[in-house]
Formats: sequence, structure tokens, C-alpha cells
Amino acid sequence: MKNDSAILEKLEQVKRFYSVPEIADELEVNATTIYRWLNRQAEPKPYVTDRLFNMLNKYLKNETEKKSFSFIDLFAGIGGMRRGFENAGGECVFTSEWNDYAQKTYLSNFPEIEKIHGDITKIDVNEIPDHDVLLAGFPCQPFSIAGVSKKKALGRAHGFLDETQGTLFFDVARIIETKKPKAFVLENVKNLKSHDKGKTFEIITGTLQQELGYTLDFKVIDGQHWVPQHRERIVIVGLREPRDFSLENLKLPNKNEIKLGSILHRTVATEPWLDHDEDKYFDFKNNKVQSKYTLTDHLWEYLQAYAAKHRSMGNGFGFGLVTEESVTRTLSARYYKDGSEILVDQGKRKNPRRLTPRECARLMGFPDDFIIPVSDTRAYQQFGNSVVVPMFSEVAKFLKPLIVHDEIKN
Ligand SMILES: C[S@@+](CC[C@H](N)C(=O)[O-])C[C@H]1O[C@@H](n2cnc3c(N)ncnc32)[C@H](O)[C@@H]1O
Repeated sequence: MKNDSAILEKLEQVKRFYSVPEIADELEVNATTIYRWLNRQAEPKPYVTDRLFNMLNKYLKNETEKKSFSFIDLFAGIGGMRRGFENAGGECVFTSEWNDYAQKTYLSNFPEIEKIHGDITKIDVNEIPDHDVLLAGFPCQPFSIAGVSKKKALGRAHGFLDETQGTLFFDVARIIETKKPKAFVLENVKNLKSHDKGKTFEIITGTLQQELGYTLDFKVIDGQHWVPQHRERIVIVGLREPRDFSLENLKLPNKNEIKLGSILHRTVATEPWLDHDEDKYFDFKNNKVQSKYTLTDHLWEYLQAYAAKHRSMGNGFGFGLVTEESVTRTLSARYYKDGSEILVDQGKRKNPRRLTPRECARLMGFPDDFIIPVSDTRAYQQFGNSVVVPMFSEVAKFLKPLIVHDEIKN
């Protein structure tokens, strides 16, 4: 008897999760018919393929929602990536961040954690618990590639990992090599790809794929899909098992739908404040942003003169004046200096103002119960260094079925 083996294979898979009567019910046939198919006594009709697929997907979706996975948070900053991965049901089992002020913010927001580990270069891999996913937004540093080419010429192993010694990527790679997580997610600035004429990226991908054996995909993603900020970051995902996956399948909401007005301070009635200390940002009595965020005449004149000078030289430098209808430029860790990349227009009679730290938190996709326990300067640095949280909720949602269902082939 001729059988459609692809359908039967799918049927066998579905049978691992559903009983024959359940399958029969879904396919609207008798249980006996299913047994006849399985025993190769009859041939299933092609229409059952879609229904089997639907059953499998339903099962995977339910199981995925139930299952948890563990992850570690390296170069943790204030825990933006952690938040995204916790939103998808992940459990953080280890954190490394060496900056005291970032640690302070992190601990205020995740009070349940016992310890934040410091300098990653000093961490003994044996201290790190086993985990499913490794997260790292490591600083981008150049590598020396000379040694790699020499080794290649001598016909020796490529030695990518050797070449990364002394950089923070090396520490990420040594942890992956020893702990062999099911997956990793690395985040970096968009120009990691062109950094040092492409050599940095070549060594990173070479180490991860060829030396550590992971299957990779990467994508430049704009935070503007979720928040009113143009912020492009490269996201690199690696899977330990060879799997067919593509970050092109990430679900990105439409860009340009969220405007700055949605994250600016408005009136007391619309501010869900949990902490009265927030009046350091917003004057509740007078319903306005505190005046300290408005630029002084001196700074505003300086910025305008600076922009005019660059315009006359044909350069595009200048400040980024925004309104409620805008999408901002990328918030940087230097925002505390003059705020020039994002200045909120306050009309002709008032100088523009900076965003407050609370508005920066929202611009990065942090919820309003996020505690900001540090000075404005530190807060601006921390948000400027962080990630757009919902971007990583989406990456985590995408990744989760791939790591919690190792047993199922796509
Ligand atoms: C770009 S930020 C990462 C932001 C973070 N992924 C998030 O989700 O908010 C990089 C962080 O790495 C930290 N860092 C740099 N060198 C480090 C080291 N040797 N050990 C531990 N942390 C380090 C910095 O203090 C900084 O907070």
C-alpha cells in the first residue's frame, strides 16, 4: 500500500501528545481509521495534514506557556534584558555587573536576588549554575586578527577564541564553551558588524559557530517598533542544537505608531505614581515638569551656535528638537551632559527641556513601577546603556519554544 510518509510522520508526532480518540475527534474520523493509517492498511487524505499541524501547534503553545527556562544575565546593567526574559517566563539564576550604581538600581528592582557578581573577567566558570540561555550585552572591543590569518596560513585550527583573549567577548565565549547553554542572546550596537572593518564581527561569529559549534542568526532591530525612539541594535542568537530558525520570524509591531506624547509627563490624573518621590521629576502642585529640566539660556544658546557652525560647514550635527508627535533619536549614556540628542520643544517663550529620568525609563520600555534609586546623572547613563525591554520580551518569546521543545523537529 502506498502511504504518504510525511503525513504519517506528523501523525506519529501528534500521537506522542494526544490519544488516538482525541486525534480521531479532531480529524473527524473513527479511531479505527487512525489505526488503519498507522498500520499502513489505508492512506490518510491530504486534508489531515493541516489539522495535524494545528494540533501540534496547539500543544506546543500550551506547553511553552507552562514551561519555564533558566538564564544568566551578564553585563546586566539595570536588568533590561532580564525583564524581557522574565516576561516570557524565564528564571534568572546568575547576574554579573560590576558598576556599583547599576547594581544599586538592579537590586532595588529585583530585591529577591541574593548577590550580583562583579567583574566578569574574575568569575570562575564553576561558580555559574547550569542554565538554558546566556544573555550578554557586552561592550564592543577590537580584536587582533593577525594571528588568525597566520594560523590559517600554517594550516592550523583557526584559533578564533585565542584571538579574543583579553577582551570581554572572550569571557562570554569561555562561559559558553564550558557551560554549553542551549542558547545565547548577545546584544550590541548596530555597527558591531562594521567595527574594525568587519574583523570584530568575523571573529565573534567565527568563534561562536566554528569553534563553539552553535547555529547562529542575527538581525538589526529598531526599538521604534515598540517605543517612540529610533534605536537600532544587533541581536545575535545562537542555538546549541542545529535547528532551522530565522530571526526574520520575530513579530515586530508596526513602526511609527507610538509617538513621544505617549511617554511624556502629563497631569497628575494620568500619572500612575507609586512613589511620592517622583515629584523630583514632576511638580504635582503645578502640574508641570520640574523647571530644572529646562535648559539654561547659556546652554541653549551654546547648542544653537554649535549646530549653526556645523550646518555652515555642511555637517549634520546638531540637537534633536522633538514634539509630542516625534520619534526621538537614540538615547545615549551621555544624555546627562547636554541632552542635545533629545530636547523637548516647550514653545517660543521657553527654552526646550531634557527628558526626565522617568521619561527615559518609559522611552526604553520600562514600566512605571521601575524604581530609580540613583541621581539623575546616573539614571541617564543607565537608561542610555540599557535595552528596549519589549524588544527582548519578543526575542525571548521567539526563542522559548526552540529551547523548551528540544525533542520536536520543525
Ligand atoms: C551596554 S550595558 C548592558 C545593558 C544590559 N544588557 C541591560 O539589559 O540593561 C554594559 C554593562 O556592562 C558592564 N560591564 C562592563 N565591563 C564589565 C565587566 N568586566 N564585568 C561586569 N560588568 C561589566 C557595564 O558596567 C554596563 O553596565
